[in-house]
This record gives sequence, structure tokens and C-alpha cells, in this order.
Amino acid sequence: MNKDEISIVILAAGKGSRMKSPKAKVLHTVSGKPMLYHIIKSSSKISNDITVVIAHQKEDVQKQMSSYFDNINFVVQDAKNFPGTGGAMKNISIKNEKVLVLNGDMPLITTDSLQGFLNNDNEIIMSIFDLQNPDGYGRVIIKDDKVQRIIEQKDASSQELHVSTVNAGIYAFNKSVLDKYIPLLSNDNAQQEYYLTDIISMARADGLNIAPLLVDEENFKGVNSKKDLADSEEIMQDRIKTKLMNDGVIMQLPSTIYIEEGVTFEGECIVENGCRLTGDTLIQNSHVKAGSVIEDSIVKNSNVGPLAHIRPASYIEDSHIGNFVEVKKSSLKGVKAGHLSYIGDAQIDKGTNIGAGVITCNYDGIKKYKTIIGKNVFVGSDSQLVAPVTIEDDVMIAAGTTVTDNKIEKGSLAISRTKMRTIKDFYYKFFGKK
Ligand code: UD1
Ligand code: CA
Repeated sequence: MNKDEISIVILAAGKGSRMKSPKAKVLHTVSGKPMLYHIIKSSSKISNDITVVIAHQKEDVQKQMSSYFDNINFVVQDAKNFPGTGGAMKNISIKNEKVLVLNGDMPLITTDSLQGFLNNDNEIIMSIFDLQNPDGYGRVIIKDDKVQRIIEQKDASSQELHVSTVNAGIYAFNKSVLDKYIPLLSNDNAQQEYYLTDIISMARADGLNIAPLLVDEENFKGVNSKKDLADSEEIMQDRIKTKLMNDGVIMQLPSTIYIEEGVTFEGECIVENGCRLTGDTLIQNSHVKAGSVIEDSIVKNSNVGPLAHIRPASYIEDSHIGNFVEVKKSSLKGVKAGHLSYIGDAQIDKGTNIGAGVITCNYDGIKKYKTIIGKNVFVGSDSQLVAPVTIEDDVMIAAGTTVTDNKIEKGSLAISRTKMRTIKDFYYKFFGKK
């Protein structure tokens, strides 16, 4: 089937009370992107007609998804009068005869696993798997190899609770099935909600074909709690890092490394244990040493860390950034900053050395200002550069200097110091012994 023959509906209107969070469930992130983002991404590879049903925090959900994807139809559920996954399916218009319905809390779903629903022309295909602990899922009652109905946990008898076959939460319907049964759903159940899952027993009674599709637990994992979220994160991280290693990135103790979806690598790169790389970071031919954090930045032909923090919008090329160095929104080309520094809103050129303990004082309490440093500058240890300031090429800044001039001219020495004194035998006078 091609992308113009399949419609996809993603249910993302629920509150997600079990998450115990003020944030809409589908906006909780896995590897840096909202759960809903991951589902839409997998869906958009098989369909051009994607509808997302929203209600709880609808503005936020719509705004965030629109920043990632074009051409998503958003439909607002009347959650007050028609709560539940069946209520979410009311009033949506679908273009195609084949419709996949997905829960919005399944961030691990892959395009391949969705494809499994399309090789089969039954009127209803529903995903199932067997769980040792089926807690939280709808139980699937199968008799004589035929799916009879889905019973939600809260409505299940103690006997039904022992059923280990559960509804994985993704279905393929013929459009005519939805058109017929959605209006017939009732809310006569423990939660007084309209359950999409009630379609199954109604369709069975009418003799429709319901094909169970056995799916794997990992891809179809639903996220209802923060523990589920953490479990999904581990699986997603494993996928991301496995792919990167297969593409040639060297990782030491990968289980201790966190890399968000969207981080890219080029050339030969090494990432040591305990690193965290986020956002749209690009690492090219570089070595990121233990315990470093790099956020939304570009690092080329450089060493970073151990224990360095590269904050968003930094560009680092041909440079060495050592331990306890924090860089923010700065461009460093051919620079050495080996130890204990804060470099913020700065632009630093080739051959420049930033001594230990150097700080760009970029903020006066109201505004941020830039520090511009030219080529071959030697910034002595423990200097403060009070921005805005421009330091031209070939300048020396003496250790311990507070640079308050706005400009240091090419070739100069800048030094600010109180004169040093040595008082002979002071120690012995003070402690009264020799
Ligand atoms: C649902 C299924 C259950 C299945 C499980 C698989 C129903 C009634 N139950 O249960 O059989 O085992 O998924 O993960 O469908 N939503 C709306 N509007 C609402 C309520 C929910 O859009 O009014 C959305 C949610 O945002 C969520 C999805 O539907 O993305 C599923 O809702 P959730 O409450 O998590 O359903 P489960 O109880 O997990
Ligand atoms: Ca769920």
C-alpha cells in the first residue's frame, strides 16, 4: 500500500493521570523529543493523512508538533461529553479506506512494526502480546482461536484479570467499520468512558473478521507512568547508540552515555563514559572525554573534557577544551582552554590560550555582552574579562588581571595588579616560634 492509501489517527487527548505530572503525557520526552513526536515520525513514513486527536493542553501539543511536522490534521476531542479512546474517535474525518489507530503513548513504535498491519486485508486487525504481568493493559478474550472482546482492567473480573494476552493498543480498521461502530459506543463501564476497544465485541457479534496480530512487547510498549517512561528511555537509548556505533562512532561503556535523537557524528569520533550529548549537536572527528555535556553545539577536530560543559550555540573547531571548562554561545577556533574556565558570548581566534580560571564576565545583571579575542593571545590564569571587550591579536594578559578597558590593542600587555610585598619572618612572629 502506498502513502496515499492509508490514514493514521493518533490518540493524544488524554490527561495521563498515572504520570502524576502537570505536563500532558504525550509531551513527556524520550531521548529529547516528545513521545508523540516519535510516533508521528514513524507514522509519516507510511501515510500522508495523519490526524492527531488532542484535548488536554491542546495548544501546547499542537504547537510543539507543528514545529516538527507540516500537514498534520489536529482534531479536538469533546473530552467532557465523550471521554475515552472511543470518544476521541468521534467527529474525525478520514480520507482513506484503510485506517490505523494508534495510542499516543507508544514512543517506541517503528515504521516496520506499523507495516505489519498493512499486509492483511481483514476488516479489523488488532495487536496483541502475552505478558507475564499484564497489569494496566486491556485483556483480550479469545475463544476457539477467535477474538471475542477486550475487557479493560478496571472492568475485569478476578478471573479475567488472570488473562495474560493483552491489547497492545494499535489497530487497523476499514473506514466503514469505524463509521458504523463509533456512534454505537456507550460509556456503560467502570470509568464511564467511551472505549474504542468495545468495537471488538460489537463487530464479533455481527460476524466481522477480527485478526489478532501478535506483536513484540518492546516496540509496542505503552507509557503510563514515569517508570514506563524511564524503561522506554533505556530502550530508545540502546537503539540510538547501537545505530551510531554501527555507523562508526567509538563509545566506551555505552550504557553510561546519553545521546538524544538528533545528535549527529561525522568522521572518527570517540565518546567516553558518562557523557551527555543533546539537541542538534554535531560532533566531527573529535574526542569527547569522560563526564562531558554537550548541548546543541558543533564540535569539529577537537578534544573536549573530561568534565567539560559545552552549552547551546557553541562552535568549537581545532580546539582543546579541558576539565571544568564551561563554554556558552561562543565560537572557538584553534583555541586552548585547558582548565577551570567560563567562556560565554565570546569569539576567540586561532593560537589563543585561555589560562586556568579565566572568566568572561558577560553579564552585568541586566544585559549580556560579547568578548572578542583575536589570534595568538595569551590570557593569563585567573583573569577576568569584563565584557563588552575586544582583545586584538598578539596581546598578553597578565595572570590575575581584571580587564575593564573595552579594547586592548594589538601587541600590548594588559596588567592590573596591586604591588606584591614579602614580609620576612612574618610566619614566625605570628605563631611565635622558630
Ligand atoms: C488503552 C486500551 C487498552 C490497551 C492499552 C495499550 C482503551 C479503552 N484501552 O488503555 O485496552 O491495552 O491502551 O497501551 O482504549 N486518549 C485520548 N482521549 C481520551 C483518553 C485517552 O485521546 O479521552 C489517548 C491518550 O492520550 C493515550 C491513548 O489514548 O495516548 C491511550 O489512553 P490511555 O488512557 O493510556 O489508555 P490505556 O488505559 O493505556
Ligand atoms: Ca496507555
